[in-house]
Amino acid sequence: MSEPVFAAADSPLRLLPKVELHCHVEGAARAATVAELAAKHGVPLGVDDPDDLYTYESLADFLNAFATVCSVFVEPEDFHRLAYEAAEDAATAGTQYREMFFSPGFHLDRSVRFDTMWSGIVAGIADGEADHGVRTRLIMDIDKPKGIGPAMALLEAARVADRDILIGVGGDSTERGVDHHIFEPLIREAKNMGLKTCFHCGEDGPAENIAIMVEAGLDRIDHGTWLLDLPDLVKRVVDEQIPLTSCPSSNVEIGIVESLDSHPFPQQFEAGALVTLNSDDPTFFRFDLADEYERIAATFGYDHEAMIKFRNNAIDAAWLDESDKAALRTEFANG
Ligand code: HPA
Ligand code: ZN
Repeated sequence: MSEPVFAAADSPLRLLPKVELHCHVEGAARAATVAELAAKHGVPLGVDDPDDLYTYESLADFLNAFATVCSVFVEPEDFHRLAYEAAEDAATAGTQYREMFFSPGFHLDRSVRFDTMWSGIVAGIADGEADHGVRTRLIMDIDKPKGIGPAMALLEAARVADRDILIGVGGDSTERGVDHHIFEPLIREAKNMGLKTCFHCGEDGPAENIAIMVEAGLDRIDHGTWLLDLPDLVKRVVDEQIPLTSCPSSNVEIGIVESLDSHPFPQQFEAGALVTLNSDDPTFFRFDLADEYERIAATFGYDHEAMIKFRNNAIDAAWLDESDKAALRTEFANG
């Protein structure tokens, strides 16, 4: 396998102002921070070097590591630090606006209250914006394997959240053994609450899961790696310009696809899909969004204009109102 590509500090793709729509706040936890917080709370990590946590061969492996990392965040100030450092690292990647997941299912399991994580993350993104200029809005991910009961309970818990900051509801974790039809009421109720909806699907599960969620009214597809397996679905996704938040390097890291050059991203783009590029879990995979742009350009031979097109797709696919999108386009055009 060839050596991974990284974007240098002065690379045009690192300097390109970017928008990211698929990144998990817990997936942006720095190993050093995880180690410090584990020591603070006496949480066993099961490894001597926290960096060793971040190695996997499958989504199941990855989700185990994700749960371990989540277990060190206990108090509001821990969540504050998590969100603040994520913004600091996003600034280094050239990310200026981000719609970011948080996954309460992994924290409520440990009796951390919704308000503890919410207040900490909200304060962290506010300070991150003030100090590093990265604007962040939040998407609450439900943990799909737990089923519809806990998902609906989470949606209830989220009623207290400030709607200028909580803009959507998503679903993550594995698709294996999960009947996606059960989430239809969740999508319906989230929409009733005025929230946008997205779901991880067509990642470690088939394109049929994407079809089920699109039929349920999904606003955005997270991953959608296997979309091309269903031509009728491709037609609908293209006709309706339902965005895909693609994370090609993440798919390689956890063994969803064999190599970056075998990822269907270029074919999805050529089919007319509104594709965007995203890092998913940057510290877990040891690269950031700038590196992802650099890798995609290098692997598929896209020029800078093409990469700007993918960045602009992310503006189009963002859950901002039209005037905010226009302001971002002007800001980015002016450097
Ligand atoms: N897939 C599913 N669940 C996740 C992921 C992912 O890529 N990242 C964090 N939770
Ligand atoms: Zn993800």
